Amino acid sequence: MADSRAVGIFGAGWVGLVTGGCFAELGHEVVVRDIVPERIEALRAGHLPFHEPDLPEVLERNRGRIRYTLDADELGEADVLFICVQTPPTYSGDADLSYVWNALDELPRANRRQVLVMKSTVPVGTGDTVRAALEARGLNNVGYVSNPEFLAEGTGVRDFMNPDRLVLGAFAPEDAAVVEALYSGIEAPVVRTDVASAEMIKLAANAFLSTRISFINEIANVCELVGADVEDVAKGVGLDHRLGPHFFRAGVGWGGSCFGKDVSALKQLAGNSGYHFQLLAAVIEVNELQKRRVIAKLEKHLGKLRGKTIAVLGLAFKPNTDDLRDAPSLVIASRLLAEGASVRTWDPVADARDRLRGALQCGSVLDAVAGADAAVIVTEWPELRGLASKEVREAMARPLIVDGRNVLDPEETRAAGFAYEGIGRGSSPFASLPETPEREPKVPR
Ligand code: UDX
Repeated sequence: MADSRAVGIFGAGWVGLVTGGCFAELGHEVVVRDIVPERIEALRAGHLPFHEPDLPEVLERNRGRIRYTLDADELGEADVLFICVQTPPTYSGDADLSYVWNALDELPRANRRQVLVMKSTVPVGTGDTVRAALEARGLNNVGYVSNPEFLAEGTGVRDFMNPDRLVLGAFAPEDAAVVEALYSGIEAPVVRTDVASAEMIKLAANAFLSTRISFINEIANVCELVGADVEDVAKGVGLDHRLGPHFFRAGVGWGGSCFGKDVSALKQLAGNSGYHFQLLAAVIEVNELQKRRVIAKLEKHLGKLRGKTIAVLGLAFKPNTDDLRDAPSLVIASRLLAEGASVRTWDPVADARDRLRGALQCGSVLDAVAGADAAVIVTEWPELRGLASKEVREAMARPLIVDGRNVLDPEETRAAGFAYEGIGRGSSPFASLPETPEREPKVPR
């Protein structure tokens, strides 16, 4: 266990709470500060404002070591201060750093050295700008370290406790050492570097993960044209130790709060610096088109979608989270609505009612597929593995499944009486809907 230190956190969002909870778990005293009173009240009452496995238990177990506050002055006693605020994209695609600057404006004046740590994802060069701003305000006893987070939603606690690496970019080595000591008890390679390189590591890692997914999605699209199966192709390619199997699953495209934002931010950063990052432009475009390919797959079997009923199964941008930010489901459902289809949605935790006003959110998979002309798997929730069942087939008006995450076995699905369209796999020929029953649905629409 690490020597107990006082840790302050700006931002009680997802990154701030995972970071705060896990530092408390490591034995540190943590104060989490946010500007939203309802959020602080909820946290004090033991309520987590979002769904994240393991985090409620971690926060509860360490209740005695975590304080939540609205008052930035309470961070004055902290040895290390983490900035964990959002950096959303602006209209131009640059990162909006206003939350970061607000936090810096509220930095308490401490009478001893504090280390300020940037966890939020920021453009390369932010550390230099922050340091200049601190110096201009006479805050010379504040050190600065870039320590980007590599936490994925749904596995945040596990990722924090078992990281692939710790990246520490600092202006002064003693500041990096203070932050490294906070993590003692955690086994991981440490990359000590300068601030700009640490900032770049985060952006490059997310950009490369997105590139891998867009790459395998394009391979999938070609597989469909030439009669190959992307699942076998990805396996065969991924077994090359130089390439590896991770982030190589074809699907309806990547989403979430990080990839879109960080890929755009890196492309924009390059452009602002005089370099046109062509590859990332393609990575983004491929992803946009990938979401929309679902519509063509539906039209292949159903013709015009006006008046058709489509079940959109899974709304969260990935399983084990209720996060809808940049979720492919929103684009797919919105496109379907724009084509004039009726859309019935289902998700075990995400609620999209205010974002998809024209769609009907259903309480169960069976309810969502009732009377549907097709069911589209958008998020690979475990509940959907049994979708090709007799009950579902009987509930649907037409037995067509578009499997946007390749979770079903094509042969079994067809044997169960469905037409099946996956991503990058041999598809059912046009007009192959088995015994398409043109009958009234059992449940009224
Ligand atoms: C990501 C990074 O993994 C994390 O390190 C970073 O700090 C924040 O961004 P997250 O956004 O939580 O984490 O989700 P992640 O699990 O990475 O998935 C992102 C998207 O890619 C999801 O929409 C997922 O469905 C998609 N994906 C992932 C694929 O389409 N194929 C894959 O092989 C992997």
